[in-house]
Amino acid sequence: MAKKIIKRSWAEPFKIKMVEPISMTSREEREKAIREAGYNTFLLKSKDVYIDLLTDSGTNAMSDYQWAGMMLGDEAYAGSRNFYNLWDNVKKFYGMPYFVPTHQGRAAEHLISKIMIKPGDYIPGNMYFTTTRLHQELAGATFIDVIINEAHEAQNTHPFKGNIDLNKLEALIKKVGAKKIPYVSMAGPVNMAGGQPFSMKNLKDVYSLTNKYGVKLWFDATRATENAYFIKLREKGYESKTIAAILKEMCSYYDGLWVSAKKDLMVNIGGILATRNKKVYEEARNMVVVYEGLHTYGGLAGRDMEAMARGLEEMVLFDNVKARIGQVEYCGRELEKYNVPLVYPFGGHAIFLDAKRFLPHLKQDLFPAQSLASEIYLDSGVRGMERGIVSSGRDPQTGKNQYPKLELVRLTFPRRVYTQAHIDVTVESVAQVFQDRKKIKGLKMVYEPKYLRFFQAKFKKI
Ligand SMILES: Cc1ncc(COP(=O)(O)O)c(C=O)c1O
Repeated sequence: MAKKIIKRSWAEPFKIKMVEPISMTSREEREKAIREAGYNTFLLKSKDVYIDLLTDSGTNAMSDYQWAGMMLGDEAYAGSRNFYNLWDNVKKFYGMPYFVPTHQGRAAEHLISKIMIKPGDYIPGNMYFTTTRLHQELAGATFIDVIINEAHEAQNTHPFKGNIDLNKLEALIKKVGAKKIPYVSMAGPVNMAGGQPFSMKNLKDVYSLTNKYGVKLWFDATRATENAYFIKLREKGYESKTIAAILKEMCSYYDGLWVSAKKDLMVNIGGILATRNKKVYEEARNMVVVYEGLHTYGGLAGRDMEAMARGLEEMVLFDNVKARIGQVEYCGRELEKYNVPLVYPFGGHAIFLDAKRFLPHLKQDLFPAQSLASEIYLDSGVRGMERGIVSSGRDPQTGKNQYPKLELVRLTFPRRVYTQAHIDVTVESVAQVFQDRKKIKGLKMVYEPKYLRFFQAKFKKI
């Protein structure tokens, strides 16, 4: 009997035009490199990395259309034509009338936190993101996590683990008063929960609740097209809508948004602050001049803004998003074959290894996820990142370590960069480390910077 043909439902909607060599290193070379990097994958030199799954931030492959746009950079100090092209597309795809460019996402977070927050305020959010929370805290706010409990459970398969718990949010508003909450900070998908989306229903409910109390709603739209894709796949009534239509509807519930363009927009650098609030816009337009550059370039070259404008057009293409998330899912399914403990459902931008179950013999003070990321690098030169106790940092009030429930290693896929063979090599390496996991003894932190310690902390092997 002829073998039954099972057809794949997708392949990449592009082909390779230019290649960049990457280095293959020996185990001895990697041992030296990771020791010198203090067992922190952020401190490795890129030349010592084989497959770089540290982040999807600024590491994506631009299209020929974007590269062609780079040649059309109008590098005028003021009023660059690329700024206006970008602004047109911000209006078109996010539906926000006002916009200032910034050099990357955290610069937009800085501006919005400075504009909206007064010391003593509270910012509720659907789990924290590292730079977002820090800017909110530096502006004087206390961040309160109001995500649903399921988001903190690695194996819980709730389809919308990015949802806000309405009871938690309302209880906070009643406790501290609406006047102390300048805005609710909502991200989608939620990076730290494993790339988990929120549903449109939850967004609408949050909108009604915040509206009732006169609290503003702001959106970290860094990977919003992935959230839109999950809504299309999982939420009734959205099956036949386009990614662009779902994105526009999502944005219609927010007062404003910020974006790290280094993700969805598939560029190497750039950020967006956009709003429908004229007063906030006027302040942002003024402050961007102080911290970033004139409001028509915000720390970017004209050519970067053109690549962003064109990236906005490409990010909503269904086949692009499907292939990107399909690659993440492929990695997850292959890892499952070796029983590697993972976060479920698989996220939009990354596969998250559950280090607590991967290394159950290590208590959290021995930095299991940090140890695991460095062991995977040692095995194969594949670079991932820690998303656990190191990333979570210290409580700003008590100075004590925070112990997040999720202790994860993130393997993040840059868009349009790696092939299926690269993923297979990654899977084999993780499986090998999983087989040898009992040999891993943990790490001791020997250097800790004050802010965002995961970027620069150093460790020694126990
Ligand atoms: C959800 C989210 N928000 C904000 C940022 C900050 O953006 P940037 O790295 O461009 O400063 C990131 C970056 O990783 C992110 O993932």
